[in-house]
Amino acid sequence: MKAIKIDVLTLFPDMFSAVMSESMMWKARDQGLLDFQVHDIRDYAGNRQRKVDDAPYGGGGGMILKADVLTRAIEAVKAEDGAPVILLSPQGRLLRHEVASELSQQPRLILVCGHYEGVDERAIELAINDEISIGDYVLTGGELAALVLIDAVVRLIPGVLGAEGAQQRDSHADGALEGPHYTRPSAFRGLGVPAVLTSGHHAEVDRWRRRQALKRTWERRPDLLLNAPLDDDDRAYLAQLEDAAGD
Ligand code: ADE
Repeated sequence: MKAIKIDVLTLFPDMFSAVMSESMMWKARDQGLLDFQVHDIRDYAGNRQRKVDDAPYGGGGGMILKADVLTRAIEAVKAEDGAPVILLSPQGRLLRHEVASELSQQPRLILVCGHYEGVDERAIELAINDEISIGDYVLTGGELAALVLIDAVVRLIPGVLGAEGAQQRDSHADGALEGPHYTRPSAFRGLGVPAVLTSGHHAEVDRWRRRQALKRTWERRPDLLLNAPLDDDDRAYLAQLEDAAGD
C-alpha cells in the first residue's frame, strides 16, 4: 500500500483542522494512506515573545518572515530526510495536473506556508527546494494554497478515491476536460438525458463521452488540446467541430 507523509509548516495551524478532518482527506488519514502533521513556525521563534517576523531592509511596508526562524523550523521537521521542501508562493511554478501527479509519487512532502509580505530570501536559498503557486493571484498566505495542493495530490494516491481508476477519468488527467454527467431522474424541469446513456451500449457510451470531453475542451480550454494525446478518431472529430464552426 502506497502512503504519503505530509508535514506543513505554518503560522496558522488551526486553518488546517477542519479541511483535514472531513471527507476524502479524513478518509485517507483514517485508512493510513496519509500521515498529516502541522507544525507551528512560532514554536521555533527562539525568543520569549515568539516573534517570527521583522521589517524589511531597505524600507517599505509589511513584515518579513525571518530566515533564522524559518530555517530552524524546516531543519527540525526535515531531520535527515531527503524530502522536498516546497514553499507555497505566487512566484512558484504553476500547480497543474502533471505537478500534482509528480508530487503524489513522493513518500514525503514538506510544505511551507509563507505569510505577511514575504520570506527572507536566504531561507529560500538555504532550505527550500521548490516553489509552487496555485494560480496567478495573490492570497494573504500560503495556507489555502497548501490545502489545495494537498487535496489535489492526496486524491491521486491509489485507494483514496473509492472507485479504482476514477482519477484516470478526471478532467485534466488525460489532457482534456470531462464531459457532462447525469443521474436520476431521467426528466427534470423539461430537460432529459442523452439517449445514448440509457442505451446499454457501452462502446457507444465511451465514444459519446470521449467526444463530449473533446467538445467541451475545444469550447472552453482549446489551449489544453495542444498537449493532449489524441488518436485519429479524436482528430477527425475535432476537425469536424472546426468545419462546423467555420460554416
Ligand atoms: N501565497 C500567496 N499567494 C499564493 C498563490 N497564488 N499560490 C501559492 N501560494 C500563495
